[in-house]
Amino acid sequence: MPLHMPVHGYSPYTNMPKVIAHRGASGHAPENTAAALQTASKMRATWVEVDITVTSDGVAVVFHDSDVNRCTNGRGLVIKQTLAELKTLDAGSWYSPFHSDEKILTMMELLTLANQLDLNINMEIKPTIGRETETVWAMKQALRSVPFDNTLLLSSFNYRALMAAKEFLPEYPRALNVEAIPRDWAARMDDVGATGLHFALDFFDRKAVEEIIETGTPLACFTVNDLETAQRLWAAGVTAVFTDYPDRLLLDARRVEHH
Ligand code: G3P
Ligand code: MG
Repeated sequence: MPLHMPVHGYSPYTNMPKVIAHRGASGHAPENTAAALQTASKMRATWVEVDITVTSDGVAVVFHDSDVNRCTNGRGLVIKQTLAELKTLDAGSWYSPFHSDEKILTMMELLTLANQLDLNINMEIKPTIGRETETVWAMKQALRSVPFDNTLLLSSFNYRALMAAKEFLPEYPRALNVEAIPRDWAARMDDVGATGLHFALDFFDRKAVEEIIETGTPLACFTVNDLETAQRLWAAGVTAVFTDYPDRLLLDARRVEHH
């Protein structure tokens, strides 16, 4: 087994910092672009979350929405466009004219950049419904082409995507994403072999969170953009928060870690 691959049973939560840059530092640069990753790194984030989906010609790309309307100057569904078509789009001007050179990143480009910046990655699998296996298969091709040096955690809201990850990328740990924490969270995690549970801030409930943490299950919460809320979550035992503004939380995160 190559050295960069986590050994079976390895928990990415053991050394996870308290702050993960959400879609890169997406409060300061266009989400999921090279600029967002570079900004996260400059702000001293060591983990980033990005969204991964697939093109019509089977290439894994870094993109949140199913269509390109919000985050590029193009129109239409990602799954219906080739990589060559998607690469003609401007993925930065919607955010600011200073970012007009940003392009949609392939997962291979993401891995290369994250290796250069020494970033750990949580890749959230965002498949078009019905194309879950193709999405994970494309991710496997990217990882074959560009071996990743750091920790890679896969996650998804999508059951089929997680099952495909379990089958095709079993060497990488998985997390289950939910909005509200379901009552049968343990069974759902077992089903997909998830080692962590990621939930939405709107559904934070201290008692439920404490009960889950008592079982030794690591939790992460999205999306937390103010320090006071982050502190409440950390105090309740949440391992990490996803934030669009790592600079707002990071100094304090380091201080808390040293206690
Ligand atoms: O992976 C955590 C979070 O990113 C999930 O929601 O919509 O921001 O991708 P979303
Ligand atoms: Mg996401």
